[in-house]
Amino acid sequence: MSKFLTTTAIALTMMAGAAKATDVEVLHWWTSGGEAAALNVLKEDLQSKGIGWVDMPVAGGGGEAAMTALRARVTAGDPPTAVQMLGFDILDWAEQGALGNLDEVAAAEGWDKVVPEALQKFSKYDGHWIAAPVNVHSTNWVWINKAALDAAGGKAPESWDELVAMLDKMKANGITPLAHGGQPWQDATVFDGVVLSKGNDFYKNAFIDLDPDTLGGADMADAFDRLMKLRTYVDDNFSGRDWNLASAMVIEGKAGMQMMGDWAKGEFLKAGQKPGADFVCIRFPGTQGSVTFNSDQFAMFNVSGDDKVKAQMEMASSIESPKFQSAFNVVKGSVPARTDVPDTDFDDCGKKGMKDLAEANTSGSLFGSMAHGHAAPASVKNAVYDVVTKAFNGGYKDGAEAAAALAEAVAAAQ
Ligand code: GAL
Repeated sequence: MSKFLTTTAIALTMMAGAAKATDVEVLHWWTSGGEAAALNVLKEDLQSKGIGWVDMPVAGGGGEAAMTALRARVTAGDPPTAVQMLGFDILDWAEQGALGNLDEVAAAEGWDKVVPEALQKFSKYDGHWIAAPVNVHSTNWVWINKAALDAAGGKAPESWDELVAMLDKMKANGITPLAHGGQPWQDATVFDGVVLSKGNDFYKNAFIDLDPDTLGGADMADAFDRLMKLRTYVDDNFSGRDWNLASAMVIEGKAGMQMMGDWAKGEFLKAGQKPGADFVCIRFPGTQGSVTFNSDQFAMFNVSGDDKVKAQMEMASSIESPKFQSAFNVVKGSVPARTDVPDTDFDDCGKKGMKDLAEANTSGSLFGSMAHGHAAPASVKNAVYDVVTKAFNGGYKDGAEAAAALAEAVAAAQ
């Protein structure tokens, strides 16, 4: 009898399965502990709606490796259904006519009214919705081990000079002051904060407007000198280290701080740490009130088959639901991609992130992150990566030489 029931149950499940919308195959680079935990929120949400998940993870923070894998799939004529993507890369694929159209679901759910303008710039192409924004991250954060902070005087640094003083203290206290992974995108992430610490206008002129005089000028030379100074606080084994392993150094108290986007918070939370008690989040000293943002979006590729398109629409709709926006971003370390989600479930860093974003947005202090594809197209971003990484690794005699190289590289990349 029980065997009969089990067999019947399996048959019924299979029938239900056959009637479901098709699976979505999702290409992404969320492979660290915190990222995977956040991704699970999405997988489970879709599964509860009958949408199956075919995973295509491509490890590598910042998504460069994922974008290479994507190109190979598209070239082979077999794009995944949904792809995690950043800023200008989305527009690039849209321009090539590779993306589907989400207008119907966007209109039915009123995305125009709730998704901030700064994100719509990358979610829409030629007036049509082509991607569903999942979150807003920002890069100008510093994550400090609380015990290490207390041992270094307890007051979080608010300016460049205070930052350097604190790094010196941490060094004297016998820990690695700065946890860092030597990969171009991580060097560039630190540089977002460094450049922004020299002023909003400077960041905008250099990285958004790509003004040659600013890129090669005295302030940029000084920014590179700051970056080279930060290099002196990193341990000997930093080359090639993954960002989440650098986070682990801070979590374990082996290092004092990490300069990284708020996906780092996902690692602290995954390790059971609490903001305020175990770690402290501050804006990169000198950038309080300003935000360099990047937004993960799922771009939907052109696929054939009504059931596949239906699954894409359902995925897009799930992602934009206010409930999902809260549940996912609480775990991911980011903040919601819509303006009407309450901050109730967010921790203090998340609440600060939401408040900072809203204020920066109204005061003109919100800028796309160069390191994460929201300031300039990939060709320029890669040129910046090259110079920044070379500078971090001592490849120029001083900041002035690096700034001159940057102006030249950006000009050549356009
Ligand atoms: C960023 C992405 C984040 C996070 C990070 C490290 O580009 O926006 O969601 O995953 O890379 O992998």
